[in-house]
Amino acid sequence: MIRYQVRVARGEQGISRGHQTFEVELEDRMTVLDALFRIQREHDPEFTFRCACRVGMCGTCAASINGIPRLACRTRASVLGGKRITVDPLPNLPVIRDIAVSMQPFFDQWKRVTPGFRPRAPESTELATIPEGSRYMRLSKGKRDCITCGACFGACGVKAASAEYLGPAAINRAMLRLIDPRDGAVEERVSVLDQERAGVWRCHTQFNCTEVCPKGITLTESITWLQRSLLRKSSLRNKA
Ligand code: SF4
Ligand code: FES
Repeated sequence: MIRYQVRVARGEQGISRGHQTFEVELEDRMTVLDALFRIQREHDPEFTFRCACRVGMCGTCAASINGIPRLACRTRASVLGGKRITVDPLPNLPVIRDIAVSMQPFFDQWKRVTPGFRPRAPESTELATIPEGSRYMRLSKGKRDCITCGACFGACGVKAASAEYLGPAAINRAMLRLIDPRDGAVEERVSVLDQERAGVWRCHTQFNCTEVCPKGITLTESITWLQRSLLRKSSLRNKA
């Protein structure tokens, strides 16, 4: 067992009550999420955080851990290098209580890019397939596994300064739909992505989003790909 000092943010509805430090014992294999559960079970049942799957699939446990947005359930305490761990709510999102944030601003932006599939030929009864080796498969490789954890949203310096900015995850989602030859909602997405204050032009290519994404999605690459494509919009309209 290793004894850690775990410093966690306290507060609710946007009112900070500073940090509180708890002594927590963890085995080598245990995660920051285990530490949060220990605090709740052994010290303060009212301490609040979010989680669901506990295996890196649902994205709900994302938090700022020692200043970096990460999944608490995928971050072993022993790899953080030290006996003091600080856990804060994800930046750029409103705090509900302690570590739990509202994901509403994240999903408000997500919805703006028409994230759902809109068939190009809704009446068609043909089986639409995407062959291996096609343009879609090539460009979407490594970009399809977003778990909407919000880590990139929290790490984004532009997002911190602009409530209007779509943020990296929504832009990546829009790119996936735009390169899908079966999808037809090109104009709706382009009109949002091309906006001066909210769209892809706001990105400062700081790579913070790419660095923190737990699924290894190359978000900055998606954004710069869209910037190039928007300069010659015909390439987006002609998806073939
Ligand atoms: S792109 Fe990565 S960091 Fe951003 S919400 Fe999706 S999984 Fe999380
Ligand atoms: S609890 Fe689901 S990703 Fe961590």
